This record gives sequence, structure tokens and C-alpha cells, in this order.
Amino acid sequence: MKKANDDSISEYKGIYQAAVINLQDSSLTKNSISIQDDFYFSSFHPINDYSLQTIYYELPRLTNINSDEWISPDIFKALMFEHNDYHPLQLYNIDSFLSETKTSIYLTKSLADDTESLANSVETYLEGLHDIQKKMDPSKSTIPLYSDIFESMKESMYQQDLQSHKEGLIVVASFINRPPNLGGIARTCEIFGVKALVIANLDYIKDKEFQCLSVSAERWINILQVKPHELQKYLFEKKNAGWSLIGAEQTANSINLLQTKFEKKTILVLGNEKDGIPANFIPLFDTCVEIPQVGVIRSLNVHVTAAICIWQYASQHTLRQFSQV
Ligand SMILES: C[S@@+](CC[C@H](N)C(=O)[O-])C[C@H]1O[C@@H](n2cnc3c(N)ncnc32)[C@H](O)[C@@H]1O
Repeated sequence: MKKANDDSISEYKGIYQAAVINLQDSSLTKNSISIQDDFYFSSFHPINDYSLQTIYYELPRLTNINSDEWISPDIFKALMFEHNDYHPLQLYNIDSFLSETKTSIYLTKSLADDTESLANSVETYLEGLHDIQKKMDPSKSTIPLYSDIFESMKESMYQQDLQSHKEGLIVVASFINRPPNLGGIARTCEIFGVKALVIANLDYIKDKEFQCLSVSAERWINILQVKPHELQKYLFEKKNAGWSLIGAEQTANSINLLQTKFEKKTILVLGNEKDGIPANFIPLFDTCVEIPQVGVIRSLNVHVTAAICIWQYASQHTLRQFSQV
């Protein structure tokens, strides 16, 4: 800091003196030293380190972001990243200073140290951020080879699942023909561990609107094709194999979903967006369930219906382990 009698700062003498007094305060001095040790001042070079490695790997690592979110530059290499003569962005850093730097001490040290220090405020703040959102996508692993491993894991899970349909929820969406509804249902099925999703035509999966809503869920769940004219046979076979058949529909005899106790082996059939479940299917079901409504609109969107019913099943079976503390 410049001296107080320097002309350029004499005008701000009061502020200068206040700054000097503040810096003499021990914790501020300590904090200013630890900040100088931080990677940003000690090893980061804004030009040499202008790279995808810094942006997607080193900065998340050095700022203590969950390692699930670090993206290795090798991924960009595999995706054919090309240097551009008109732009200085590099793939890798030109030296290893940044990659050899450790996470700032004030981000890693224990909360027990000194609760009033700037260090801990930052740590607490960052921990709070972790609580807000944690994203994980195993298919976007930082190591390219892992995506192959996930493909083969998925294949073996699929085979295993087909062979052991002992229990679980199967969602039948063969009457649904709007891709966004099917994509949304696929996503909900994946999230709540539904055993299989049955749709009228596997080509729906290729639809852009489906994929927009499914956000890749189709890669992680069993999706089977059963056309509406094959559905009665399919449901009969399942009934004979001990599955409970439930229709989600508003009928005179429907049971309130809140009072429904789902069997472990349940098949949930959803209706068409416009016409609902065809009347000749209703007698096939063990029961129909109805989601109670209090508004004036006659029915829910079918994906919303699916989500509410799947959640209800999951809270009785799939998610039970999470409710026991
Ligand atoms: C939009 S509704 C079909 C049209 C509806 N049958 C009507 O007359 O307005 C589409 C499907 O969503 C499901 N659904 C909608 N609201 C429901 C509710 N309150 N309870 C149970 N299922 C419901 C049923 O599977 C239904 O076949």
C-alpha cells in the first residue's frame, strides 16, 4: 500500500488510515495471506491457463465442486475438439502448475477451526451450495472408457431384469400416443426404478419430443413394445403369472389412490390422452384407481397421473428403505 503522504492518495487520507487500521486486525491479515496462497493468485495464469482443462476440470476441482462434475479434457479430445487460429482457447494447459495445485486450504479445513473466520464463511457457503443441487450423470463419465462400461452394465441389467420379473412395477402406456407424454413417463419410470415401460411402438423413442422430455431415460430402463391390439393377451398372461392389474382411470367403481395398497407385482395401465382406457379393458383389471381431484378440470394429464401413481407405488415399496432412518 502507498504511503499516506503520497499526493495521489492524500485526498483519500481518511479511507487510507481506515484501511491500515483494518489490516492490522489479526484475522484480516491472516485472511489476506491465505487468499494470496489461493491458486487464483499463486499459480493460475489467465493466458497460459486459458483452456478447456482449466474451465471444466481444474476450476471445479480447485473450488471444491463435487468430482462428479469435473470433465476431463480427454472427453473434448474424444469429441474431436479442434484448435482455432482465430481463438486462443487450448485443450490442455501448456504447463502443469495449475494441475499440481491443491484445493485452497480455506475450502478444505474443518469447520471446527474458527467459526468466525472468513475461511469458514466461505466453506459454509460452498457446503450450502452442495445442498442446493447435486448432479450426477454416470453416462458422462470423466474417463471416456467408462461410457463403454456403462453400456455393458446396462445390457446385463436389461438381461437380468427380463429374466427375473419376480416383482416390481410395470407401467403400460400402449394407449398413449403423444411423444412428450411418453418421454416424461419414461423419465419418471427411470427415476423411481420402474421394472419396465410398455409402449405401443418403439419408434416413439427416436422422436425428438420424446427425447426432450426423457433426457436419456430410455437408455436406462426396459422399454417393451406391445401394440394396443396385443395388449389383452399380454395382460392375461401377466395376470396368470400372478401380477395385479391396475387401471388408472376415473370410473364409477374406482378406488381412491390414497387408499390403495399396491401389490409388489403390479401392472399399471394408463389411458389414452383423449379417450382414456377402452371400456372393454376395464373388466380385466383387479381394480381401477382414481387420483382424487378438487378443481373443476375433469382430468389430469396422463404423464402427471403416471407420476403420481408411480410415486405412490414407490413410497410403498421401492423407496421404503429410504424412509427408515
Ligand atoms: C386426460 S385423461 C383421458 C380423458 C378422460 N377420460 C376424460 O374424459 O377427460 C388421460 C388418462 O389420464 C389418466 N387420468 C387422468 N386423470 C386421472 C385421475 N384423476 N385419476 C386416475 N387417472 C387419471 C387416466 O389414465 C386417463 O385415461
